[in-house]
This record gives sequence, structure tokens and C-alpha cells, in this order.
Amino acid sequence: MYTIRIYGDPVLRVKGMKVPVEKIPELKDIVEEMFRTMYENEGIGLAAQQVGITEQIIVIDTRENGSSPKAIINPEITAYSEEESSFEEGCLSFPDIRADIRRPIAIQLSYYDLQGKPHTEEIDGLLARVLQHEIDHVNGTLFIDRMSPVSRMLLKKKLNKLKASHGDTA
Ligand code: CO
Repeated sequence: MYTIRIYGDPVLRVKGMKVPVEKIPELKDIVEEMFRTMYENEGIGLAAQQVGITEQIIVIDTRENGSSPKAIINPEITAYSEEESSFEEGCLSFPDIRADIRRPIAIQLSYYDLQGKPHTEEIDGLLARVLQHEIDHVNGTLFIDRMSPVSRMLLKKKLNKLKASHGDTA
């Protein structure tokens, strides 16, 4: 199992590299280990940066009725709905921190699956929400960047504390 990187760890700010398509099937072991790490920590999504890997790899399982675990490689959001909603998000890299985040309710997503097959899908609901959060991660963006100024202000002390205890460790 991987160790989850916590806010303050510089790897969380690194934009992930795209995986060359012919190399995607070789990610099988990494993806399996990412799923294990996500389930062990009771997350519903996990991005490679959160386990110290700077490539565009996401695992996701919203555990909804009819949902299935998915590995998403090299994701690209190609369209957003105009309509947005607010939803309380958490993040495994920010223990005990939650805040309402506004995001589009639906996206059009292009990605590769673990077999290296390309897909383009329209996605909405919780899956669209979690995917936007995880795609931010693989681009080095964190949910605090999308919080309202008021939320960030209210969480400032907690965030500074996290950063101080996890930042720049060798
Ligand atoms: Co997160």
C-alpha cells in the first residue's frame, strides 16, 4: 500500500505527465496499489500525486448503486455544463478538512482506460464531481484553490498547521 501525501508535500503541486499510450497497460500494478490505498483510507477517488507519482493516473469508485471502479488515464475535460452546484468535499490529502466547493454539474471527459483504449463520455452526478476533484489533482490543483475566500479564511489555522507538519520533508 502507498502512503498518502498530505498538504504541504510539494509533490501535490506537480502537474502530472501524460502516460504514453503504449505504456498504459504497464500501469496495472500501480493502479492496483492505488485502488488498495484508496479503499484502505475509505476514499472514493485518488490521484497519482497523492501517492507521490507525477503521472496522470486516477482511480475512482463512488460506491453508488450501479457504479463500478474505474481507472482513468490522461484525462481531459473537453466541455463543462453551464449549470453549477455546491457540494461539501473532503480530500485524503487534507485530513479533517471539508468545505463546500462550486463546480459544473456535468462534464464531457476524454480519457484512456487501463487497456489503453480511448473513451469520450458525458458524465454527471457524484462521478462528475469526484472526477473534477481528481483531475485537478493530476494538474497540481487542490480543492483549497477552489474554496470561497470565506471558507479558506475559516480554515486558515487548520491549513497552516497541516502544512507546517507535512511540508518539505525529505
Ligand atoms: Co483530493
